[in-house]
Amino acid sequence: MDLADLEKRYRAYVDAYRGADGRLPLMMELKLVHTFKVAENSREIARGEGFSPHETELALAAAILHDAGRYEQLKKYGTFRDSDSVDHAAFSRKVAEEQGWTAAWTPEDRRTVLEAVLHHNKRDVPPDLSPAEAKIAHSVRDADKLDIFRVTEERAADGDWRNGASTAFWGLAPAERPSPEIVAAILESRPADYRHVRSLPDFVILQAGWMSSGLHFATSRRLCARRGHLEFRERFLREITGPSGRADVDAVCAKAAEALAAAEREAR
Ligand SMILES: [Fe+2]
Repeated sequence: MDLADLEKRYRAYVDAYRGADGRLPLMMELKLVHTFKVAENSREIARGEGFSPHETELALAAAILHDAGRYEQLKKYGTFRDSDSVDHAAFSRKVAEEQGWTAAWTPEDRRTVLEAVLHHNKRDVPPDLSPAEAKIAHSVRDADKLDIFRVTEERAADGDWRNGASTAFWGLAPAERPSPEIVAAILESRPADYRHVRSLPDFVILQAGWMSSGLHFATSRRLCARRGHLEFRERFLREITGPSGRADVDAVCAKAAEALAAAEREAR
């Protein structure tokens, strides 16, 4: 598997979306940056978890391809909202296949990487994946979540979420307290249903929930701890909820803190 060649072809594909001035539309540029941040995270996870060189290659290939369909999704439908357009993971797999990026790989490698791409945004990794396939799928899911933490923090920093019509968080606005369905799912270590996301606190607390049950690898939880993503969410949640939401925020953050501390202890 020639990763340098894959990256070259991927970048050449993205170049076709540049304007006459050579620039990508901003939303596409951000996806390109995100993609290679996810690849960096994948490399760190692979190193921390002792992936073999071949597993590391598969994880990096899956990271590079996981959002390959985002450019065409935005061009064709004008949105990154899957519910208003296409499942971007299935679309990314289609683009990867159509572009012939996987043609020279062994059938096993192709299946492993494309299944990881397909399932990167789903609630669960399906049980019919082999352990080797599931490992790569989990690595891209964790690497993606770690970068979503970063992206969320950048958006929060620009402050325009204060305006309920803000596009930074899809019009999600502060609320007195997060949705009880989401809080219950997190506290019971069940995957929360994204359909219950009704407010900005729901969106942010869901990410705090990833820290206790969404991140598969201990290395991912350690990276999360070292980057201060929980502290950020704790502060931000207090800012965007009212006094009636405090108990929920505290309970979810305490559970996340325990999971991150356990991962740190494991490393010693
Ligand atoms: Fe994605």
